[in-house]
Amino acid sequence: AASEKESMYLVSEFAQKHFSETLWRSEPGKAIGLTYFKERGFTTETIEKFGLGYCLDEWDGFTNAALKKGYKLEFLEKTGLTIVKEAGTDRQRTFDRFKARVMFPIHSMSGRVLGFGGRILTNDKKAAKYLNSPESEIYHKSKVLYGIYYAKQAIAKEDVCYLVEGYTDVIQLYQRGIHNVVASSGTALTPEQIRLIGRLTNNITVLFDGDAAGMRASLRGVDLILEQGLNVRVCTFPEGEDPDSYAKNHSYEEVKDFLENNAKDFIQFKTSLLFAETAHDPIKKAETVRDIVSSISKIPDRIKQEIYIQECARMLDVSEEVLFNTLAQNRKKEI
Ligand code: CTP
Ligand code: MN
Ligand code: MN
Ligand code: MN
Ligand code: MN
Repeated sequence: AASEKESMYLVSEFAQKHFSETLWRSEPGKAIGLTYFKERGFTTETIEKFGLGYCLDEWDGFTNAALKKGYKLEFLEKTGLTIVKEAGTDRQRTFDRFKARVMFPIHSMSGRVLGFGGRILTNDKKAAKYLNSPESEIYHKSKVLYGIYYAKQAIAKEDVCYLVEGYTDVIQLYQRGIHNVVASSGTALTPEQIRLIGRLTNNITVLFDGDAAGMRASLRGVDLILEQGLNVRVCTFPEGEDPDSYAKNHSYEEVKDFLENNAKDFIQFKTSLLFAETAHDPIKKAETVRDIVSSISKIPDRIKQEIYIQECARMLDVSEEVLFNTLAQNRKKEI
């Protein structure tokens, strides 16, 4: 019901305010949470802008504070902020989902709090580094992009959207002065997320981590973006770096230069990735060509397809005719 969703929004908004007050006002908040964010290089202004917070290392400190203010357990549970065990029995207990984590609120396009990502502060490899709010009536992960509320105007103005993997990538780039950036946080990129960006611009530049997972995610992302009819470029980071670490250690000009000099057209990206070491291996080369043609076949616009086929022919030194034939075969397979 509408009022149920509204109650979920209200408790989420309360949680965001509570976690940020805990960060700024409580002793553990300042000593642990604020110190953590400052060590990551976030300024006071940035921490406030993104509404970052801290959830105390207590079993149900937040839950009790919310109940005391009159928020109902039903909605604390439905938003996933509280975990209820042995519900309805006389042994019922409640737990704060985000106990002892720094908090990243996730906003809708219009600025409402939908959910949270919470990061552990230790390097305990057994615990999940990030915990996220569960899917709920107000938080549909596949339709949300972290940072979209702060980025929307800049995306439209710059007519390009930088797409990164994580919360801290968005925040660090934003703080460096690059505001047109969002993350697919906590889920693999979805068609709905791409369509959300498509309302603001036709151009996406993917900036994924310089590790194997980031590469795989970039390759998947490229095809999805092409399928949605948007233009895609890819910029890869040096091994072991992500946009956060890069932006933290470089100036605005350096980051801008890096993005401009390294953003590749998707054909260049796939070619350099799949083809680099195998240029003289005819079998590998054939695989690369098929792979790239398969990406091209996902573009809805036939004119763009033709332009890309020409580029592909030039870059891989194969005839356009062969490529057009392969493209035609792909189309048949799809029917
Ligand atoms: N992620 C997640 N759950 C995890 C690990 C990652 O939901 N256990 C999501 C988070 O949104 C995270 C993103 O995937 O921001 C990218 O993961 P990763 O590169 O590992 O994290 P970073 O964002 O680089 O986090 P940090 O710099 O804080 O280590
Ligand atoms: Mn990574
Ligand atoms: Mn990362
Ligand atoms: Mn990182
Ligand atoms: Mn450097």
